[in-house]
Amino acid sequence: MKDKDYQHLPDHFGLVSRRDFLKFCAVAAASMGLPLGMGVKIAEAVANNLKKPTVIWLSGQECTGCSESLLRSTHPTVEKLILDLISLDYHETLSTPAGDQAEAARSKSIEENKGKFILVVDGSIPMKDGGIYCQIGGKPVLQILKETAPLAMAVINIGSCASWGGIPSSSPNPTGAVSTAEALGGKFPMINIPGCPPNPYNFLTTVLYVLTFKKLPELDEKGRPKFAYRRLIHEACERRANFDAGRFALAYGDDGHRRGWCLYKLGCKGPETFNNCPEQLFGDVGPRSWPVGTGCPCFGCSEKGVGFTKPIPEQASLQYFTPGGVPLEQADGKVRVGGGELRLTPPTAFAPIEAPEGHGASKVAVGIAAGLAGVAAGAAAVTALKLGKEKSDPGAETKKE
Ligand code: SF4
Ligand code: SF4
Ligand code: F3S
Repeated sequence: MKDKDYQHLPDHFGLVSRRDFLKFCAVAAASMGLPLGMGVKIAEAVANNLKKPTVIWLSGQECTGCSESLLRSTHPTVEKLILDLISLDYHETLSTPAGDQAEAARSKSIEENKGKFILVVDGSIPMKDGGIYCQIGGKPVLQILKETAPLAMAVINIGSCASWGGIPSSSPNPTGAVSTAEALGGKFPMINIPGCPPNPYNFLTTVLYVLTFKKLPELDEKGRPKFAYRRLIHEACERRANFDAGRFALAYGDDGHRRGWCLYKLGCKGPETFNNCPEQLFGDVGPRSWPVGTGCPCFGCSEKGVGFTKPIPEQASLQYFTPGGVPLEQADGKVRVGGGELRLTPPTAFAPIEAPEGHGASKVAVGIAAGLAGVAAGAAAVTALKLGKEKSDPGAETKKE
């Protein structure tokens, strides 16, 4: 890129320098599958956006993890980019006003920006008993959502709770928790950005896309932006060669686990989960900074019917593949064709994945899997470093099945 290509852009985008912002836009353009030069176009669209789009952020039954994941990102200051790109008029946790003042500010902003604001929803919506199990200012969030969504330009559901129901909708689902789409009867233009929490870049790139092109990005059949969710985790996983070669960790801390072998037999749901985790990574802390990279099986947090539904140690369905690597028909009846939507790069044959009795995940592994899943996000990086340092015992190799 030559200097003259971007001299017309401002020196700073809010608190972010032009150089950093252009770098980010180039990466965002690449992740959307756009030509590199589109990074400048995205930056221009942002610079020319005289009025930042108003965002009303509504929280249902949530843990604030989705907001935290945006705000706690470090370099390159994703939270600054987001707060500079949008006018966040209402957010329960971040708004300066509180109580009645906050509610009045929300009503005023909605009134002034009818049909033009973006409604972001995190958290699921409880439907049981008239939605009384989650209320804001004494009103069920279900009612607030029904009043607000028809006035919005678009609805972005951030996180698996808003996209599918997430943790609150897990059995026995005492509050009747559902997704935003189910609560609204699916009547409004919506984008789902599932994950628990989702990658902040997927949210930011979606916002940049809407700002630049004034339309929703191309979505898959589950309402997810295809640029982020078009591939299975398994397709881009750094442990894939071990899966193909039949090298599996059978218990946490065994030799296979220490050597970075495939986590399929510990319940990794990568083969049935669509997301860009292995490519996008988390927290800008370098290679392996994603669940599987740190030694924790993917539990399918972003996949409807997988995360918070299937038991963590259960082995993933290989419904998307035949033994020859050809993707099969999906549950929704649509056929994805290799080289097409899924862009599969399968081997010619898969190694046998059914462990003989006594060679699957041990009872101990199963027992600690649930606990590990909860703490993995924080502790796994440390664990991985430790595992990397431990000396392998070649004689103790996990037997190839
Ligand atoms: Fe929390 Fe996960 Fe729900 Fe986000 S999707 S609100 S991180 S439980
Ligand atoms: Fe990676 Fe999991 Fe697939 Fe193994 S099963 S290759 S760990 S995504
Ligand atoms: Fe979630 Fe699996 Fe990615 S658990 S964060 S979809 S690796």
